[in-house]
Amino acid sequence: MSQHAGPTRGAFSELKLEKKAPKNAQALLIAAFKGEEGIELPGTSLLKPAALREAYESLIAVGATGKANEVTRIPAPKKAEVDSIIAVGLGDAEDLDAETLRRAAGSAARSISKVEEVATSLGDFGIAPTVEGLILGGYKFQGLRSKPGKDSEQPAAFTVVAEKSAREEFEAAKITAESVVIARDLVNTPSNLLYPESYADFLSAQAKEVGLEVEILDEKALQKQGFGGITAVGRGSARPPRLVRLSWNPKKAKKHVALVGKGITFDTGGISLKPGSGMWDMISDMGGSAAMAASIIAAAKLNLPVKITATLPLAENMPGDNATRPGDVITHYGGITSEVLNTDAEGRLVLADAIARASEDKPDFLIETATLTGAQMVALGERTAGVMGSEDFRDRMAGIGREVGENAWAMPLLEEHDESVKSASADIRNINAKREGGMEYAGTYLKQFVGEGIEWAHIDVAGPSFNTTGAYGYTPKMGTGVPTRTVIAALREIAESK
Ligand code: BES
Ligand code: MN
Ligand code: ZN
Repeated sequence: MSQHAGPTRGAFSELKLEKKAPKNAQALLIAAFKGEEGIELPGTSLLKPAALREAYESLIAVGATGKANEVTRIPAPKKAEVDSIIAVGLGDAEDLDAETLRRAAGSAARSISKVEEVATSLGDFGIAPTVEGLILGGYKFQGLRSKPGKDSEQPAAFTVVAEKSAREEFEAAKITAESVVIARDLVNTPSNLLYPESYADFLSAQAKEVGLEVEILDEKALQKQGFGGITAVGRGSARPPRLVRLSWNPKKAKKHVALVGKGITFDTGGISLKPGSGMWDMISDMGGSAAMAASIIAAAKLNLPVKITATLPLAENMPGDNATRPGDVITHYGGITSEVLNTDAEGRLVLADAIARASEDKPDFLIETATLTGAQMVALGERTAGVMGSEDFRDRMAGIGREVGENAWAMPLLEEHDESVKSASADIRNINAKREGGMEYAGTYLKQFVGEGIEWAHIDVAGPSFNTTGAYGYTPKMGTGVPTRTVIAALREIAESK
């Protein structure tokens, strides 16, 4: 294993909750609204009315409007004990919702530099969105530069000024956001450092630290136990595959949720090789597994009373001389045979094994997520996940996604695919004869492996898990951590239900 094997880590803000601004605060981060006649500043415990008035006049003088995500920094009023005031726009006060606040807090955290200590009153409008926005927006992935770059500064530390009663919400939001950071770090780590073995080792160490049970199957165990999909995808690489199983088993659990996530540490396409341009984005093809690992770690830290098992198939899809060929027939875990017509449709092959294995435990719910198809982005764009599965649970998961600001939309499984998934030389075929409905076809392929009576949702996050455009709100470039917050919210909901 190379010296750097394992994930590279990004930096993010340290957050505290206090009743008052700390003495050493250098800046105050306050809210601004866009009123009919221009910027409006809500009252804040951080500034006396006279100082607030002075800040208001300075903000008008520099043209601040209070529109959503506008960040304006001004010198502090004379009597304030800080150097500067940072106002962030929340838009129209009447339209304020959690996501607007989360994005504004994120925009502020992302743009603040050269300030070490910031006290903020944004928590007045919502503790959890403020905490999540600040941590997620301030996240900076520094990679492996040998010299400090533009992003190398440690992000500012924030004190959220609020009452003691906010403690529980504050801590839960912090755990949630810091879990998203774990998922982002894993996604952003290049594939020469993060490969099945190093990835499994890292997950094992992280999981044990929070009290999860860990089981890792290596390539020999996978072959012996009949994991034909994972074996078929991993065999073209010099770095053999792994299956990681993490479980959280609290005493008071009433429900059992199985989590499954695609963990292709790099996807060249295999023998059905991808074009060179853009192939580098395929370092992110393990984003589903990263989100699921982050979610079960969060569940343990939150001590959620729900049984959770994460089944994470890890493999590198390479065109080595031992690689699977188009036309090969493989036998999945559980016995279903599949004709591999395109080795680039590898995600469904590893997920099929994992879903079949997860179903064996007879969970109440099975949530699976993957960077599965380019067709997801054709259908829904780069920021909205496609959710398929059992109708009610699918709709519920899509709804939770929208509630937490990880946009998601329910998509149907298509009747015609029940026929077209059949193969002449095996039970099923891994690609359709037509490209239309590619996201839905993958859903139908996966459906074959879900056990009877299990409520399941398949979340295709090919677009939303990896941002190849520019940072916005609390979403940085590269790994976004989507859909970690959706899965954590679902686990919380299921844990609380009777
Ligand atoms: N990992 C890709 C899907 C993907 C593409 C994710 C772009 C993120 C960005 C997946 O393994 C894949 O290659 N899918 C093929 C399936 C096809 C061969 C049926 C695709 O979408 O082209
Ligand atoms: Mn592929
Ligand atoms: Zn892939």
